[in-house]
Amino acid sequence: MNGKQAAGERAVDYIKDGMIVGLGTGSTVFYFLQALAKKVAEGLQVTGVVTSMQTAALAKELNIPLMDLNEATTIDVCIDGADEIFVADGSVYGIKGGGGALLFEKLVAEAAQQRIWIADESKTVTQLGAFGLPVEVVQFGYQQLERALAKRGYNPVLRRSADETPYLTDSGNYILDLQFEPITEPLALATELKHMTGVVEHGLFNQMTEVTIIATATGAVSVA
Ligand code: 5RP
Repeated sequence: MNGKQAAGERAVDYIKDGMIVGLGTGSTVFYFLQALAKKVAEGLQVTGVVTSMQTAALAKELNIPLMDLNEATTIDVCIDGADEIFVADGSVYGIKGGGGALLFEKLVAEAAQQRIWIADESKTVTQLGAFGLPVEVVQFGYQQLERALAKRGYNPVLRRSADETPYLTDSGNYILDLQFEPITEPLALATELKHMTGVVEHGLFNQMTEVTIIATATGAVSVA
């Protein structure tokens, strides 16, 4: 058992019969999907709405029934991981998109009644920004945006795949990872990035979760 597994498995407690469930992306969600699939095999009826092609493939392999986000008039709960989790004044702020799925993850999270983050304790931070902030951008003329972000001191780095070609999101966009240390004003930064033409979405998930399930390497789980 590791922290990711313990957190992922605990999230299944929130899934009730008949629910439509947003299925996040990443290695912590992997454990949630394994645990959910076990329940489905035992008769639990749920329908998943995926946040990436990677999760779609895994959910299909595990026989978790799926529906398209377009068809989901509501999503009862969305379970997803995070790259950084920061709590201030009772609000939770986070960085997501390490796995490149930030756009679909945000779309599904925004459609969900309840959002639950699952993570090992390494993801909780005292300030945001040590993890590069992913910003999904259109390919056309992206270097203009890269220069504009660099001028603002945000140190953009084009994400690349293992073969060194630019990483492509499920929507065929690029990702610029911004380097900050630290992010002191996540709300203002989110607004600023949203207003830059060519930015499709950014990985700041401000006040977008109701429950966090954090687990230690020994499997001790805390829910907040
Ligand atoms: C993918 C994400 C993931 O939720 C985030 O990167 C955490 O991943 P992991 O559970 O593998 O640590 O935002 O875009």
